[in-house]
Amino acid sequence: MGIRLKENGLQGFITEEELQKQNAQVQQCAGWLESGEAAGNDFLGWVDLPVTYDKEEYQRIKKAAKKIQGQCDVFLVIGIGGSYLGAKAALDFIQSPIYNNLKKDTPDIYFVGNSISSRVLAEVMSLIEGRDFAVNVISKSGTTTEPAIAFRLLKKELERRYGKEGARERIYATTDRVRGTLKKLSDREGYETFAIADDIGGRYSVLTAVGLLPMAVSGIDIDQVMRGAADAREAYGKGTVADNDCLRYAAIRHCLMNKRRDVEILVNYEPALVMFGEWYKQLFAESQGKDKKGIFPVSANFSTDLHSIGQYIQDGADILFETVLWVEQSRKDIFIEEEAEDEDGLNFLAGKSMQYVNHKAFQGTLLAHVDGNVPNVILEIPQADAYHFGYLVYFFEKACGVGGYMLNVNPFDQPGVESYKKNMFALLGKPGYEEMKEGLERRLL
Ligand code: PA5
Repeated sequence: MGIRLKENGLQGFITEEELQKQNAQVQQCAGWLESGEAAGNDFLGWVDLPVTYDKEEYQRIKKAAKKIQGQCDVFLVIGIGGSYLGAKAALDFIQSPIYNNLKKDTPDIYFVGNSISSRVLAEVMSLIEGRDFAVNVISKSGTTTEPAIAFRLLKKELERRYGKEGARERIYATTDRVRGTLKKLSDREGYETFAIADDIGGRYSVLTAVGLLPMAVSGIDIDQVMRGAADAREAYGKGTVADNDCLRYAAIRHCLMNKRRDVEILVNYEPALVMFGEWYKQLFAESQGKDKKGIFPVSANFSTDLHSIGQYIQDGADILFETVLWVEQSRKDIFIEEEAEDEDGLNFLAGKSMQYVNHKAFQGTLLAHVDGNVPNVILEIPQADAYHFGYLVYFFEKACGVGGYMLNVNPFDQPGVESYKKNMFALLGKPGYEEMKEGLERRLL
């Protein structure tokens, strides 16, 4: 039922002996996730979340999702970073990247507040004209600029349209259990509120209300998501690099990094997984990119991107390795038909399915990239469904936590993201930042 790690693209790059040498350190780091003896131990709530999650709140999520389905045509999810990427990844992976265009009896879902683009917000404002909408504002800190700007605007629009009372019925807040501006506002206004536990950081929060409420509104079976995550927790909670794929993947990444493979491309062959790549990038970049260390995570969608960055992967600098997410079963397969005139020369594929062609593209690319000196790790996923989404999320979260400790960094903080914020606030003239402003403006002249 789970996922499988395959290593035929690693031959000649890493030996079994090298991997076995990592085992003691991998075991120690995995142990720290359980015992809380290492840095960031106040952010380990995600480790047991698939079994310890708040059951009462979980039922409330399901109930709220039903209510939202009945009360709006458009559901706007406001959030950025860890407060958006997981839910969007789930929606695309399990439902469809074109979910909003499908015939369905659930609301359209748009994600806003994940940029400072006035154009996007203006376009969303025009698409809700004449359509009932509701809002899920998600921010753990409650002070993040991008979602706060979007929420200010949409709250006003809700109040204009439905009155204060009606707006209250259509605003769902996901935030800190006790602290923060959004929590205070929600309590004062009486919004239905869901909690992000203190010990779960933004990028590890997809299996909390942050991800689960938008998923449930779209009709995703969140029981299956949690079951997948719980099974992964069980499967990866024991064993060594010899028999635990998650620990082995962490060891492989570390070995490759030690051989100056400084860039990992998370490759998929399904557009439905593009946003999963975005989620993975945040998870690994914010968790491991510290103290001038860490593998730089990027993502690619094949075969599309073989027609763009494929050249570099094949022939460029020897700094890359690929981790390929291969989905074995296509949900709806299309078969290629024979034509009387074989003008496009495709009759040799008559009777073959597109999934078969995609698979051959995957195999051909794997061999070509290995020949081009690019190590390849394969993760075989039986189906892109709710269960395997939960399973994969847990696989990567754990591999990321273990890998962070192997690098000797705290995988659960993100001090680096504060620098740009301070500069932006100073340049915008936020009270308290006056001293910085002049120096920054001089540098921009
Ligand atoms: O992983 C993280 O902690 C960040 O990416 C946050 O999720 C992101 O900055 C949004 O923060 P908040 O939920 O506080 O608005």
